[in-house]
Amino acid sequence: MQYETLLVEVANKVATITLNRPGKKNAMSPRLHEEMTHALEALRYDDNVAVIVITGAGESFCAGMDLKEFFTDLKGKPAEYDRITRLAVEWRGRTLRYYPKPTIAMVNGFCFGGAFSIVEGCDLAIAAEEATFGLSEINFKLFPGGSVSKSLANLLRPRDALWYGMLGRPFDGRVAAQIGFVNIAVPLARLREETMTVAREIASKDPLALKATKEGYRFSLEMSWDASMSFTSAKEFELVARQNDAWRTEGIADFLKGEYKPGLESHDRKRA
Ligand code: COA
Repeated sequence: MQYETLLVEVANKVATITLNRPGKKNAMSPRLHEEMTHALEALRYDDNVAVIVITGAGESFCAGMDLKEFFTDLKGKPAEYDRITRLAVEWRGRTLRYYPKPTIAMVNGFCFGGAFSIVEGCDLAIAAEEATFGLSEINFKLFPGGSVSKSLANLLRPRDALWYGMLGRPFDGRVAAQIGFVNIAVPLARLREETMTVAREIASKDPLALKATKEGYRFSLEMSWDASMSFTSAKEFELVARQNDAWRTEGIADFLKGEYKPGLESHDRKRA
């Protein structure tokens, strides 16, 4: 896949999408939103891809929405502004959230404003300790608009969301991990290695069980208890049908034969 604003590489069943506008700190231009929409659609159906990692080229993860190409240049073009807004919200807010494959944000540097929705949209996030995060909108007289307010409400504690949202103060990767915005923070020099270790470990697990894990969690968040019970029951039957009952006939059966201990190791390790 050749893009102007992205690099896409696939290795060991892990696709790495790199936001590639380093001269603009990987700010999200209209073109980038179009290309992300396309790339996520293509990778969704690529059987060589089990996990997606999103990162940025150079010293920045993503400097948020492109303040010139999006907010300024499209000001007098309401239809185009609406079209790009819909794409921008859709890939971060819905496509990533319900993506059938696990997604990981690898936050290598600057992460501002709209980039929070990329991080929140991904299932997991690993940051460089040296990365700089910030809800900078308030600093230029805006607020966390589009899907960012919802991302904050989904992931952060109320005190943290409003602290950073109202003060606009930057914070580093260590703080991002402390407040639960990312899973862990590691030194930048180890970021790629640590992220790929996690990505490959996830890629070795059953893809349909991963999809059900994600959907069980994501949809239950917005359901009543009764609806969630009904949903996960239906998901269990879907999994049995699509996986040919492998979780019983292999997963449980091999444990009962004494071949591995699922509390301590994964079934794929047993086969390895
Ligand atoms: N939109 C458009 N262009 C951006 C951008 C953004 N969000 N962030 C950075 N750029 C551009 C700069 O305009 C500059 O372009 P130029 O070289 O053509 O003048 C280039 O990227 C490099 O940025 P610069 O400010 O010189 O780099 P820096 O290392 O000193 O600072 C940042 C980096 C990210 C701290 C700073 O650019 C910044 O504050 N950007 C805005 C971040 C923001 O508020 N994002 C929220 C948007 S929702």
